[in-house]
Amino acid sequence: MTISELEREVRRHNRLYFIEHKPEISDQEFDKLVEELKRRKPDSKVLAEIGSDVTGRFKKVRHEVPMLSLDKAYDEKTMQDWAEKFEGDIIASPKIDGCAVSIKYDLEGVLVQGATRGSGTVGEDVTANLRHVKDIPQKIGLKNVEVRGEIYMPLSVFKRYRTEFANPRNLAAGAIKQKDPRKTGEYTLSFWAYDLLGEDSKDEAAKRKLLKENGFPVIEWKLIDKGVMSFKALGDDNLSGIQAAFEEYLKRREEFDYEMDGVVYKVNLVSEQERLGVTAHHPRFGIAYKFQGDSGVTILRDVEWSVARTGVITPVGIVEPVELSGAFVSRVSLHNLGLMKKLGLSKGAKVMMMRRGGVIPNLESVVERGRGAEVETPKKCPSCGAKVEEKDDFLYCTNPKECVQAKVGELKHFVATVEIDGFGDVLLEKLYEEGLVTDPSELYELKADDLLRLESMGDVLADKLIRNIAARRELALDVFLRSLGIRELGKHTSAILAQEYGSLENVMKVTREELSAIHTIGEIIADEVVNGLKAKKPLIDKLLKHVKVLHAERKKKGGPFAGKLFLFTGSMLAMTRSEAEKLVKEKGGGIASGVSKTLDYLVVGDGGGAGSKLDKAKKLQAKGGKIRILGETEFIKLVR
Ligand code: IVH
Repeated sequence: MTISELEREVRRHNRLYFIEHKPEISDQEFDKLVEELKRRKPDSKVLAEIGSDVTGRFKKVRHEVPMLSLDKAYDEKTMQDWAEKFEGDIIASPKIDGCAVSIKYDLEGVLVQGATRGSGTVGEDVTANLRHVKDIPQKIGLKNVEVRGEIYMPLSVFKRYRTEFANPRNLAAGAIKQKDPRKTGEYTLSFWAYDLLGEDSKDEAAKRKLLKENGFPVIEWKLIDKGVMSFKALGDDNLSGIQAAFEEYLKRREEFDYEMDGVVYKVNLVSEQERLGVTAHHPRFGIAYKFQGDSGVTILRDVEWSVARTGVITPVGIVEPVELSGAFVSRVSLHNLGLMKKLGLSKGAKVMMMRRGGVIPNLESVVERGRGAEVETPKKCPSCGAKVEEKDDFLYCTNPKECVQAKVGELKHFVATVEIDGFGDVLLEKLYEEGLVTDPSELYELKADDLLRLESMGDVLADKLIRNIAARRELALDVFLRSLGIRELGKHTSAILAQEYGSLENVMKVTREELSAIHTIGEIIADEVVNGLKAKKPLIDKLLKHVKVLHAERKKKGGPFAGKLFLFTGSMLAMTRSEAEKLVKEKGGGIASGVSKTLDYLVVGDGGGAGSKLDKAKKLQAKGGKIRILGETEFIKLVR
């Protein structure tokens, strides 16, 4: 790329991000472009324009003290190098992903001007709009001061706007620039103050105390003792104070009701800040230690639909795995039909993914349309085939009760059969409703990270559950067959199939005729099993990508009793009944569960008490059945 191309790119992405609120590349990628420009042309005019959100719709406001942006760091080394350069403590706060504003108060302490950051030197006058942000006091006890901070939309409020806006920062940016200031009020924006100008405070901590006393919500902060930091002697972890604060905020990220994209570190002492001064673009007294790889661009492969108990059918995007904050993500909820349509998704589209509040992956925008077809809205419920209904932004299954129960029931049966511990009904329901697991094979695709998206799920439990799944990647053939949830393929029939055919491959080839020739399997069962296996072929194929089905030991074919069925009645004198049954099996015969047409031999013990079985057998014989009735001695002769 030539320098002027690079400048054009930086300018274009700046506009997409700050003005149009439709970024096409991730923050990281943008930063990389800027870094390259800085390296190749440090005095480029474009560098000074970065961050500008001037739309031209508002009166311009010149910032007496420029609203600079902070330099960014992504590793501890950069942070340590920064911290070497000054004396005293560091003050650390969450970096709020919102919009910076400046608010001026006059000699009476009355709010007189509110402005956006704009280019840093010139912003836009949004005074009337800021008057509608409840967190911002209209009158304070301080005279002639300027308060700076971040306007943001709490995540709890943002939930309502998911369909219209990709993320809370874009929404907040749009909301403070409403033509009608009352509209700004309707968005219930919030504010965190982090800086005070015009008071002679000795350090940042003192400024923040004053701000708090004057009714501002002040972003939380902690002081880091540089002495401790530079000797790397904090606790057992041997983390520097800087790193410890970073990791603590990263871990606690979900607790906060706003989006946090890193941690801001500032020199606490104002005297030191003044001594350090500013570079062309950033103050030296502060730095933003950003959370890693929160966003990334990937390809949308498909959209699947998951049905909740309430009947809402939610689109779930299947994407090429993309690394977000250190973990790979391949499924992403698209929240609802309305939002999905708005995104204009097509298969193969290049999409931007980002983690929300640090945890939940979100598909933010389409960067480039795909060549594939536009994703279609299903006409029938993807789970049960019932009619669907579109209402507002949502798609509903008209028969939700039976539909979801069936799907979740399939999961429950699988988990119980292959004995994966820890997956209770509630958890399976949640996984299904979130679209994380819609058939048993997807259990094996789960990652700890997916589980962590669920409420009340911690690291330890998530890891344990994943281990429990991994422990069941090798399944005995009969267990596998039973796990498929085919009616009539229960314990007994699965065991017989395993013994008879030895491998899944052979079982899949079995015909209805072959099956019904097995004595304990009638025609109806044979039909159910053969059709069931055919219907479950797609699931079987998916499962086979994750599990190994062990071969079963085949029942020895042949032997003098091969294919013959025996049944015993009455008490035997020469041996116990189970000894007799064992002899039959050793010679290749089978034991029937009752007298029926398929029975070959009814053995009547010499000890008496033959009862109804004998009567039934005699009746069958009278009708010309193949059944033979043997006394104990005849049986022993036959065996020997
Ligand atoms: S201190 C030089 N503290 O991050 C400005 N800024 O590029 C230093 N931000 O434009 C301000 N959270 O809008 C500070 N806790 C925080 C912040 C914060 C978010 C924004 C601010 C600034 C940008 C850094």
